[in-house]
Amino acid sequence: MLIFKKQSDLRNWISRQGKVCIGFVPTMGALHRGHISLIEQSKRECELTVCSIFVNPTQFNDPADLAKYPRPIGSDIELLLQAGCDALFLPEYDDLYKTDELLQTDLGGLDALWEGAIRPGHFQGVVTVVKKLFDAVRPTHVFFGQKDFQQCSVIRKMMRNFDMKISFRMCDIVREDDGLAMSSRNIRLSAEERKTASNIYKTLSTATIKKETLSPEMLGQWATKELGNAGMVVEYAAIVDTTDLKPATTWEWPTVLLVAVKLPSVRLIDNILLS
Ligand code: PAF
Repeated sequence: MLIFKKQSDLRNWISRQGKVCIGFVPTMGALHRGHISLIEQSKRECELTVCSIFVNPTQFNDPADLAKYPRPIGSDIELLLQAGCDALFLPEYDDLYKTDELLQTDLGGLDALWEGAIRPGHFQGVVTVVKKLFDAVRPTHVFFGQKDFQQCSVIRKMMRNFDMKISFRMCDIVREDDGLAMSSRNIRLSAEERKTASNIYKTLSTATIKKETLSPEMLGQWATKELGNAGMVVEYAAIVDTTDLKPATTWEWPTVLLVAVKLPSVRLIDNILLS
């Protein structure tokens, strides 16, 4: 695996390979099996797989969260080598951000709901860096995890705005044995919190059964209560339309249950498709 720090070097190398199908997995590092499943999917579909690791300051609205974000670069490189990734892009801030200007593009309100309401400016930072990374790598396929369902919706909207001819792949959530969705932030959970957090998936999977008898609104209320009873502070638990992410009022269209909870040392998000 080759490691590039400068986008010009990465671009030159990619074009010298003469490959048609280039898969790209953007990450902020602290890699886990969820990220590796994206690399594996890219390797199945593409001729060349590029991963990036860049902890993007513009998407953090809490400086303490940015400071605490894990950066185990040695073990990340080891995992990427084992997974057979072809190239790793490790840009410096100045190489990616020639100016501090953020991307101005209409995200159709998708950026203002849920995560966007709680973390103002977060998605503008995400689309800014993702566009820069896409421009650097020029992939034909990109791979993102369903765990960040809203992020997937926002990035797809940005891609439509710029008419990007790139295949977007949203890949399944990878879970621990007890159902907890893999996340770089899980290492901050204490043993006790880890046990509490396993109730998130229990609630999500029970919701798929409860859906048969409850309206979307009632199911959201039920999930909020369940998560709260399990000892978590619920920021939101809502059944939303998969297209506009607005609260669903019927089961007629595809819906997803989005959840964000707070434990004393970490905030977690998760989701499950309901139809
Ligand atoms: O999902 C992430 O890890 C980040 O939000 C992303 C897409 C790499 C942009 O920094």
